[in-house]
Amino acid sequence: MKKTVLTGVKPTGNVHIGNYIGAIRPALHMAQAEHESLFFIANYHALTTIQDAKELRDNTYHVTAAWIACGLDPQKTIIYRQSDVPEIFEIAWVLSCYCPKGLMNRAHAYKAKVQLNEQEGKQDLDFGVNMGLYQYPILMASDILSFDTDFVPVGEDQIQHLEIARDIAQKINHTYKSQVLKIPQAVVQKDSKVIPGLDGQKMSKSYDNTIPLFAESKSLRKLVMKIKTDSLPPEAPKQTEGSVIFQLYKEFASQDEIATLAKRFETGIGWGDAKQALFESMDKVLTPLRDKYNALIQNPTELDQILAEGAEKARQKAKHVLERVKTSTGV
Ligand code: TRP
Repeated sequence: MKKTVLTGVKPTGNVHIGNYIGAIRPALHMAQAEHESLFFIANYHALTTIQDAKELRDNTYHVTAAWIACGLDPQKTIIYRQSDVPEIFEIAWVLSCYCPKGLMNRAHAYKAKVQLNEQEGKQDLDFGVNMGLYQYPILMASDILSFDTDFVPVGEDQIQHLEIARDIAQKINHTYKSQVLKIPQAVVQKDSKVIPGLDGQKMSKSYDNTIPLFAESKSLRKLVMKIKTDSLPPEAPKQTEGSVIFQLYKEFASQDEIATLAKRFETGIGWGDAKQALFESMDKVLTPLRDKYNALIQNPTELDQILAEGAEKARQKAKHVLERVKTSTGV
């Protein structure tokens, strides 16, 4: 039996180079051959924070098109919207009946919110917390457990959520003295690199230093030219270590090209030339992805169809789990 790998992403706007190198590319690597892979857009999770209909809808299409443009193959990976699989939400209720409230009190996103309220001297420590946010880990547990998932690739920040999913599943299995739910395992991407943004800090929407993954060539070049550099003159030897330009170049160029640019750094290269080299290597890799993305995003009907087909397959799987849950619990 093939092992099942499940990846979930929240539909956020504007996928950037940092997402691509740090999350999308490694996840697509993992989704290779020997596994059965599922990929979904956690749009109901996003509803805890994105409460603008157009934004949520657009983001969902954007993320779907982005992953497919980057190489996710809907023929090989089951890709669906979370909201198209109602079984997940039915199972989530059952999970919530086995989740001690205290476990949610200790979930880190909620705890961080409470701490912030405390620091800000708010009377109500739950200020700004909706129940969706509070129960976020239960729905996430259901995303995973509804498909008999074996492995979940996650960043360090999601480890606790995986622990919660395992805890709840074990509790249910223990209660009914059988393997009602499969116990999933986190696959933590420890070596996930920090991709620097335009200003040298980690590339992140919150620092406003990102390079959008599908920027047109012209604006891509403009952004690359904005990368912060020091004021060394062109002929001065330059350090590759710590150079944003060089670090990004390594992610897009071939081994030979990387060696050549390293030499040019050593013997002196003007920052403008270095940026031009970076732009060209990025543009070469990104142009086919951008073309594919643009074609997909202009055709939401096709995206809807891909997602509907994925949801159909996903539901077949979740129905089995739901049946098992219902039979075991006696509802
Ligand atoms: N919580 C995840 C994040 O913020 C997204 C997510 C929701 C998820 N459900 C999931 C990830 C299930 C993996 C499995 O990134």
